[in-house]
Amino acid sequence: MRKPLVVANWKMHTSLAEAIVLATSIRNAAADLSQIEIVLCSPFVWLYPIAEIFHTSPRNLKLGAQDCYFTDEGPVTGEVSAKMLKHLCRYVLVGHSERRRLFGESDAMINDKVKAVLRSGLSPILAVGEFKKMYDAKRERGRPTRIEAKSDIFHQIRAGLSGIPSSSLQEIAIAYEPVWAISTTVGSVAADGVYVSTVIAKIRQFLYKTYSRDVAASIRILYGGSVDAENISQYALQPEIDGVLVGAASLKTREFIGVCREFNK
Ligand code: PGA
Repeated sequence: MRKPLVVANWKMHTSLAEAIVLATSIRNAAADLSQIEIVLCSPFVWLYPIAEIFHTSPRNLKLGAQDCYFTDEGPVTGEVSAKMLKHLCRYVLVGHSERRRLFGESDAMINDKVKAVLRSGLSPILAVGEFKKMYDAKRERGRPTRIEAKSDIFHQIRAGLSGIPSSSLQEIAIAYEPVWAISTTVGSVAADGVYVSTVIAKIRQFLYKTYSRDVAASIRILYGGSVDAENISQYALQPEIDGVLVGAASLKTREFIGVCREFNK
């Protein structure tokens, strides 16, 4: 059974005071959300104070980083390695579309990051997503459209997981985040639950064919893109969707707890 996973991605938001208030309210709510695992991906600089707050937290609440560098140490000014994160958090988000777009991160670099996270004994959350809608509902016959050929999430997954032994794959979660659905993309709309479920089923089928039944059955596949307390039920209802990655709505306690509650049912 895959335990639902709800991930908060604060991106480059919050002051220290705001981070403390938010993290404390999430910690206080977590005990009543024992059916799910909650991961809070805060900016690097708040990881330590939040780790202190989470010291007394229920076991279903974990801390995550939003990125890491792919070597363990060295002359890399401004970067943070997975090895440095090892004692602070449990998860590291890798390959977010903002990293791919703003920092030109390639699939090869993302693959190195996934490996660095695993090497440090942490769990990667590999984010993948197409820039334009992958399946046009009217053309849904299993045939790839031209758009799909251009921005192939299966290519991102294959490259991101390249060279990783099957035994480690079970540590990884995949976040399907279509770029057109992320709240900060101009003209964005949340993908509908049936669409997301269709894509996630295809990802699982891909994992089955590429790796094994066990890998396909154990990897959690999440959806991310404009998720909030209002639209969450359409995702929580779909058995294929193992959880969500929440950006903007994770900065408001009530919204985020509302999202968690829906997956906790
Ligand atoms: P959003 O962000 O929920 O604000 O769309 C999701 C993400 O980019 O991870």
